[in-house]
Amino acid sequence: MKYVIANWKMAPSSEEKAQDLVREILAGAHGISSDMRIVVCPPFIWLPLVRDFLRSAPSPFALGAQNVAEKTGGAWTGEISVSMLKALGVSHILIGHSERRTLGENNEVVSEKLRIALAQGFTAILCVGETSLEGNWHEFLKEEVESAFSVVEADQVGRLIVAYEPVWAIGAKEPDTPDSALTSAIFIRKLAQARFGERAKNLPVLYGGAVLPDTVAPFALQEGIDGVLVGRASLDPQSFRAILEAMEKKR
Ligand code: PGA
Repeated sequence: MKYVIANWKMAPSSEEKAQDLVREILAGAHGISSDMRIVVCPPFIWLPLVRDFLRSAPSPFALGAQNVAEKTGGAWTGEISVSMLKALGVSHILIGHSERRTLGENNEVVSEKLRIALAQGFTAILCVGETSLEGNWHEFLKEEVESAFSVVEADQVGRLIVAYEPVWAIGAKEPDTPDSALTSAIFIRKLAQARFGERAKNLPVLYGGAVLPDTVAPFALQEGIDGVLVGRASLDPQSFRAILEAMEKKR
């Protein structure tokens, strides 16, 4: 299985634009093979709308949320719980995206969200990545990954996806080099093996950060990287289509 995750972030700004976007994305995915999982992660407010479009869409599509509350219930103004996401038909949740971490989510909060999402039967897309390449950044990455893995039970590993996203590449012009992204993916896999043993064998590790139509090819072809997490290019149907086409070539 290969993965393309579309992270719409805080866009589009209107219902009409959200409708147009999902409609065009679906049209552009026509003929995409079923060994690709395409997860569309709109803002909370457009989840029902996107869900309704995806209902009649072919099987590669799944509905994802960009975040979830770290509490399962109670009086928490402005938060969205796992049960609410379940009621909306969400199957995947992005956990610990760097933009959430910038807003104050530390490893502890990310781990709690991951624990809750997995306990409730969701597939979690755990986002990790160093903020810069200065100093001992491997140690930073290791801490992020180990802290999150510590709350994952062995029998939940099949519902875990890790997206390696070097923070300095997110929103940038240039992605990481495919070689260095692969080195980090292997590093993450080793940490997974140390924690989960054999069960970690099929853990999908994706790359994210400046995945664009003209940068995607080497990541699509790189063995050891199971897919891509796409930010801004997922808001442009033509660019997204080009990324899906590049991923189609992946074996
Ligand atoms: P980008 O964002 O593709 O716009 O760099 C990636 C991300 O935030 O995951």
